[in-house]
Amino acid sequence: MVFEVKNICCIGAGYVGGPSMAVIAKNCPDIQINVVDINIERIERWNDKNLKNLPIYEPGLEEIVKKCRGKNLHFSKNVNLNIANADMIFISVNTPTKTKGLGAGFASDLKWIEKSAREISKYAKGKTIIVEKSTLPVKTASTIKKILYSTSENSSDKNEKTFYILSNPEFLAEGSAIKDLDNPDRVLIGGEDEEAIKALSNLYIKWIDKEKILTTNLWSSELSKLISNAFLAQRISSINSVSAICEATGADIKEVSMAIGSDKRIGKFFLNAGPGFGGSCFKKDILNLIYICKHYGLDKVADYWEQVININSWQISRITQIIVEKLFGTVSGKRLVILGFSFKANTNDTRESPAIYICQKLMIEGGNLIIYDPKVDYSQIENDLNKKMASIEEIDHSEGEWYKSKNIYNAVQDADAVILLTEWDQFINLDWERISNSMRKPSWIFDTRYLLDPRIISSININYWRIGYGDKRGI
Ligand code: NAD
Ligand code: UGA
Repeated sequence: MVFEVKNICCIGAGYVGGPSMAVIAKNCPDIQINVVDINIERIERWNDKNLKNLPIYEPGLEEIVKKCRGKNLHFSKNVNLNIANADMIFISVNTPTKTKGLGAGFASDLKWIEKSAREISKYAKGKTIIVEKSTLPVKTASTIKKILYSTSENSSDKNEKTFYILSNPEFLAEGSAIKDLDNPDRVLIGGEDEEAIKALSNLYIKWIDKEKILTTNLWSSELSKLISNAFLAQRISSINSVSAICEATGADIKEVSMAIGSDKRIGKFFLNAGPGFGGSCFKKDILNLIYICKHYGLDKVADYWEQVININSWQISRITQIIVEKLFGTVSGKRLVILGFSFKANTNDTRESPAIYICQKLMIEGGNLIIYDPKVDYSQIENDLNKKMASIEEIDHSEGEWYKSKNIYNAVQDADAVILLTEWDQFINLDWERISNSMRKPSWIFDTRYLLDPRIISSININYWRIGYGDKRGI
């Protein structure tokens, strides 16, 4: 049968659901798109007249919401009604690592997926295409199918419901989500039903070259998403492990990245050493992959991928240790300025941000932190650090407290160190001489992103440590 998609429902108005549906709405003005969520506050923020209050910060997102919201893009808390009206339903809910029960610490918690499937089963009408957008363990489509049909078996209109399940994983990266959605490297669609695959492809070909739309079987598609993230994370752990060798030997990680990345087989992207990867997905997806490997008895494969996470944890703690050691082995009562709290630049997302661990450790050591981030608000930092913000007065008379500052030049007054954790562009062109002059001597910059220009820093009176840069230079 031929599907005509006129009405889409997306379950989950988060970092994937919001931006991905906004871009579909922009490119498919004839289709009505309803993004629904059980988080009422999130929906209210998506509907806020002031676009600065959208729940997600992504460059380019505000403009699309401004153009499409209320026309063919709607945000609603009415999950059931919008399921009932949809011909195509995207499931974009969270799939975090389980924290308790079987598989805790590794397996994905699929309770939100199951809940969505049950709601769809109950409220969908007629023939509906179900699209897995969330990242899922391989074979989840089979579970979803069972739930969809088992619940509707009890319903009086069971014969009127037919579901076509597709896997269409999302590859956007935060901070460049709109760019990635506008111009993806590929769109992956896994499925069994040719017409359903065609219906989904027909959406994407409105703005994406046909050649970029790859179709596979369901399991290849589900697995490819986990493997893509595992490969990307593995690259970061590889380059981070090399950053430690550079520091020990006098090599320079930027030069090594450039030299190895010039080989087309290796490629130049994703070779920036840093404080360790963060974000909601790399760690959880590798943990999930490890769980799947163990389930199939592939223990050696599981061990291999576990090392990617081990190196990442090691990188985060080794940086913390370097900071404490350089500050004469103690940060107790010292003022430390943290530049950047999000897990990468151009997002307000802090999930698994290395900054969380580094800040917590430094506070345990007694350091007083003044945190600056252009997009993360203080309430998020309070949640992440599990500690209330102190007042600026308290900071000077206590240990292990934190305060969020809106002004970097005020923050650095009498500080012992500036610790650069996120690569926000605005940090590059700060007046570093002015900063150095207001700090207590001897003062330090710890550049965990290799962001600053060493020529500028070397001309001012400050100690400078940067990731992957050995000081044992010369023969
Ligand atoms: P998120 O937590 O930002 O958003 C998920 C939303 O789903 C939440 O707002 C939650 O309230 C809502 N939700 C959960 N259950 C619901 C239900 N039954 N009905 C209605 N709403 C419900 O998560 P995210 O970052 O958007 O990630 C979603 C999925 O996409 C995950 O599987 C993730 O691995 C994957 N993914 C994320 C990214 C990313 O950059 N964040 C990129 C690619 C893939
Ligand atoms: C990542 C993938 O890049 C996306 O393709 C995928 O869709 C997404 O995960 C997901 O499934 O959630 P994201 O986590 O948003 O996207 O951002 P990345 O750009 O991949 O950065 C992840 C972490 O690695 C960040 O902490 C970043 O600072 C770090 N990183 C990245 C480095 O340390 N060095 C690099 O060279 C690149």
